Amino acid sequence: MVSLSKAKIAPNYPPGPKPHWLLGILPEYAPDPIGFVSRCAKDYGDIVYWKGSLFSAYQLNHPDYIEEVLVKKNSLFCKQQSLQILRRMFGNGLLTSEGQFWQRQRRLMQPAFHRDRIFSYGEVMVDYTNRLLTNWSDGKVLDVDEEMMHVTLEIVAKTLFGAEVTDVETIGKIMQVSVEYFESRNTNLLLFMIPDWVPLPHNLRFQKAAKQFDEIIYPIIQQRRESGEDKGDLLSMLLQMRDEDGNGMSDKQLRDEAVTLFIAGHETTASALSWAWYLLSQHPEVEQKLLAELQTVLGGRTPTFTDLPQLTYTDRVVMEVMRLYPSVWATARQALQDCEIAGYPVRAGDNIIMSQWVMHRDPRYFDQPEVFNPDRWEGDFAKKIPYFAYFPFNGGPRICIGQSFAKMEAVLLLATIAQKFRLTLVPDQEIIPWTAFTLRPKYGLKMLLNQR
Ligand code: HEM
Repeated sequence: MVSLSKAKIAPNYPPGPKPHWLLGILPEYAPDPIGFVSRCAKDYGDIVYWKGSLFSAYQLNHPDYIEEVLVKKNSLFCKQQSLQILRRMFGNGLLTSEGQFWQRQRRLMQPAFHRDRIFSYGEVMVDYTNRLLTNWSDGKVLDVDEEMMHVTLEIVAKTLFGAEVTDVETIGKIMQVSVEYFESRNTNLLLFMIPDWVPLPHNLRFQKAAKQFDEIIYPIIQQRRESGEDKGDLLSMLLQMRDEDGNGMSDKQLRDEAVTLFIAGHETTASALSWAWYLLSQHPEVEQKLLAELQTVLGGRTPTFTDLPQLTYTDRVVMEVMRLYPSVWATARQALQDCEIAGYPVRAGDNIIMSQWVMHRDPRYFDQPEVFNPDRWEGDFAKKIPYFAYFPFNGGPRICIGQSFAKMEAVLLLATIAQKFRLTLVPDQEIIPWTAFTLRPKYGLKMLLNQR
């Protein structure tokens, strides 16, 4: 590999948008991140250079280039700095940690997410969905995005910590503060430039939320350590885990993994489900096919994980929702050393952006990409397209650890709710994808409930 600084090679940059002299691409990016990345792909092709004095990046819009970064040369990259903001909440959890430490944690935690293990959570998922539905009634109007956030948080709380987490409401608020903090720092020009230790109201709010989380989580960890009880939940598994040297996780590490799983494990699935309800309400023909499958397979009974192999159309609906509205709409990495991507020299510290939103709507891989058509996933379509043309859970070593958990949750919740309620979009609402921590409907999703 050639070190650029040593070899003094003149940088050879791909094409890209003309930057503002001081702020680079931020004035164009910040008001509409999705529009910006989509325009870049359309106007400049498979690799685009965003130049700026504060922030420069390569945007990759080809599956082969994305594979180079996330798989083939993955050891040459780390997570990008914007994610470091989250370290103040996540600490050194699985999503934010790096190198050997991440490797050890991933190895320790992987068994907790094994398919055989997570199947036992199916019952909790359906049970909590049914509990949610006791508050739903015919003719009621609800913000379905909020409802999905609530139920997925309860499911993660129960599967992670069993009965001990009683204050799910407070945890929800803490998560919300963290998400807003992340979003505002990433898209607000002023906040982007001010260091996060400056005692501004939003910084202080974030610090308070992190402290509040500690006050809830540490006593639970302590209690469980003292009782030594195996409750069959994730916390029990995490407490039992030992590495090759026989060492378990410290309380601080358990705390960091817990907060990571809370946030990574509920908002992502909730966003996917919100978009599912939105898209189903706009496509009655898809909804009819979904109901027909549910009738044939379940005939009105509550689904269980054993029904999953038969719920093939429901599964395709979920795949198609995550294609059009990927909860994680973009992935960022930073080069640890000089290297080459797509034939261009990349210097240590350079940023790489890969957008699921852009790739999932690329007409080279998806016929009529803007159309919501779950049938496109029939047969072996998924195997025929390049892996990184569709990567809602990413790929390579840092692929989402909760992928099977999330897929099962989405299918079971959809099947449970759709059998009991029809959800119609309340008219005159602006449904705008908002690039918060996950891709969410910006102003919520008010829907009318009709009992079936
Ligand atoms: C529809 C739902 C979900 C989507 C779309 C999703 C997507 C992703 C993506 C794209 C990443 C990679 C981030 C990166 O490398 O920068 C990731 C990582 C991760 N996800 Fe998920 N996720 C979902 C659900 C879940 C659930 C349910 C859990 C846990 C219960 C979870 C836990 C994690 C963790 C811990 C990581 C970090 C893994 C590592 O770096 O080793 N996710 N997720």
